[in-house]
Amino acid sequence: MAISKVAVLGAGIMGAGIAQVAAQVGLEVKLRDVDQRFIDNGMNAIKQSLGRLVKKERIDQAAADAAVARIKGVTDLTEAVTGADIVIEAIPENLALKQETFSFIDKICPDHVLFASNTSGLSITLMASATGRGDRFVGMHFFNPVPMMQLVEIVRGFLTSESTIEQIRSLAAKMGKTPILVNDTPGFATTRLIGVLENEAVHALAEGIASAEDIDRAMKLGMNHPMGPLELADLVGLDTLLSCMENLYREYGDPKYRPPFLLRQMVRAGRLGRKTGRGFYDYSGKQ
Ligand SMILES: NC(=O)c1ccc[n+]([C@@H]2O[C@H](COP(=O)([O-])OP(=O)(O)OC[C@H]3O[C@@H](n4cnc5c(N)ncnc54)[C@H](O)[C@@H]3O)[C@@H](O)[C@H]2O)c1
Repeated sequence: MAISKVAVLGAGIMGAGIAQVAAQVGLEVKLRDVDQRFIDNGMNAIKQSLGRLVKKERIDQAAADAAVARIKGVTDLTEAVTGADIVIEAIPENLALKQETFSFIDKICPDHVLFASNTSGLSITLMASATGRGDRFVGMHFFNPVPMMQLVEIVRGFLTSESTIEQIRSLAAKMGKTPILVNDTPGFATTRLIGVLENEAVHALAEGIASAEDIDRAMKLGMNHPMGPLELADLVGLDTLLSCMENLYREYGDPKYRPPFLLRQMVRAGRLGRKTGRGFYDYSGKQ
């Protein structure tokens, strides 16, 4: 089945990026969030991102305008998924919230509709268990910022069919991405590795080993990482990092995944990184 209509749930960092890339390759997109102001934020982020691509002459203005015109923002969940060939979920990293959402739309969407979660590492099999379509349920894990990052991690749940995986491979390719296939395990291949690095950097900061700037400099200048782990944590969102580490710790029971108290306190204080203007660094005044 050819995929031409996509419902993206969540208009935050990832949902906006996924909607943008889908629209750029000609797919019709409905972008759903719980409140109009989140949709407006997402649409603004998309316009800014497309504007940067125009400035760099990667696309022309007509292509940018056409992409924006293909995205319809909606707050009603039923309206968002009606007519979609695939639903790509990018709501917060909370298993109960994701299960509740998938369970609701499972009753509305016809059988052929594919469900994909952009979760960073929660169980695809558990999410699928809230629906009656485990064979048509898959992880489609994009990376941040979505328009720039090449990888899509396709996550095969316990019941995911080969036909679903092939359809997701084709969709990822159409969106200009390179897929890898992983089995459904906590944190998959990517978050399990990078989460540990970011988490350890927060432990090092909390222990007073060095300043945030020097910890990041160590990894950029000493290890050739393009970004430091604390800068990366700010980009990802500290609430998302905390949820990922809590999930890894809970699932594997291994103390190497234990989130530092500093991370928890920063989330409690609303210092979530770039998206709230302050995390390990101050972004106020920067867009
Ligand atoms: N931030 C990253 O770098 C990154 C990378 C890969 C995957 N992810 C995953 O993508 C998902 C989304 O992360 P994000 O960084 O975009 O988060 P975010 O906080 O930027 O955005 C989440 C959005 O979902 C909205 N939302 C909440 N409940 C909703 C609902 N029931 N229906 C629709 N929208 C709802 C929120 O209002 C918010 O706008 C998470 O599962 C996260 O783990 C994040």
